[in-house]
Amino acid sequence: MPRDAGSRLPLIEEGQWPTTPIILGGEAGHRISQFIEDAKHISLLAEKGVSARLGLLLYGPPGTGKTLLAGHIAASLKLPFYIARLDSLISSRLGETAKNIRGVFEFVPARNAVLFFDEMDAIAKLRDDRHELGELKRVVNTVLQGLDSLTDDVVTIGATNHPHLLDPAIWRRFPYKVELALPDEEVRASLWLHFLFQNVAAHKEEADLLARVSDGLNGADIENIALAARRRSILGNQEPSLAQILLAVHASHAGNPRLLDNRELDTTDKKALTRFLHEKGGIRQAEIANVVGVSRQMVHRYLKEASDG
Ligand SMILES: Nc1ncnc2c1ncn2[C@@H]1O[C@H](COP(=O)(O)OP(=O)(O)OP(=O)(O)O)[C@@H](O)[C@H]1O
Ligand SMILES: [Mg+2]
Repeated sequence: MPRDAGSRLPLIEEGQWPTTPIILGGEAGHRISQFIEDAKHISLLAEKGVSARLGLLLYGPPGTGKTLLAGHIAASLKLPFYIARLDSLISSRLGETAKNIRGVFEFVPARNAVLFFDEMDAIAKLRDDRHELGELKRVVNTVLQGLDSLTDDVVTIGATNHPHLLDPAIWRRFPYKVELALPDEEVRASLWLHFLFQNVAAHKEEADLLARVSDGLNGADIENIALAARRRSILGNQEPSLAQILLAVHASHAGNPRLLDNRELDTTDKKALTRFLHEKGGIRQAEIANVVGVSRQMVHRYLKEASDG
């Protein structure tokens, strides 16, 4: 593997095919299947003169599965998965970054492989960090030349959280673009069912309730809360209740992730959870009472207290 001359760190690592599934929404899933189908039949498409370069750009907020998905694509195509992280290719030594990038492209073309550029927007950071537009241009040009030098059987995937920071010429080199947005309610339900309930269908209603109130959370957030709950149920003598998991979701929204524990809910917790579920709308008071573990009268009182200020 090529290495950075200064730090001796490898410029590329060979990634493993993922063993955990990726859960995608309908639109993204459809586009990805299409990309995979085109990649599998690239020689037929080329013969008919309708092939496009197999460049796919995945963009969207953090924790939505971009890196994981790239590995899945390599696995579906049964190709080795080479990961170049652009942030680690950026050398502190002037001129070295472009050399590193050339090194990556020279390493790959001989192989039938998926070449994955993670954190592609890191190149754009040069603009702020260096005050040296000359180097930024050189680096962008090196990436463009590298992409142009690849043969058709190399699948390139780029991932970025900041698509607007990418140079338009780089953006154009990826004919396939798929946005991985924050998961919608349906995808969140599948994520909860998978990570928390290991896909046991009997838990579908709980997963649906969690999905309903966890808007704004990404896949990685849901995975973190779910695994914390499962750790507590393995190591503690009591499983965290649905109410405790919902409180962790609430805290995660508020931006102060709460340690998920299996202590009984106190009155403050019960009030907070009641209001949280109520604000999400569409959850009946009887259901709130049931989940929080109080009477319906109490739910009514908590909500009244809140609205009276
Ligand atoms: N849609 C999803 N399906 C399954 N797992 C997911 C999904 N989204 C996130 N995860 C979980 O969260 C972890 C982190 O996701 P990943 O690193 O792929 O996100 P990312 O979009 O590359 O984030 P970043 O932009 O921060 O690099 C994954 O390894 C997986 O366990
Ligand atoms: Mg990533």
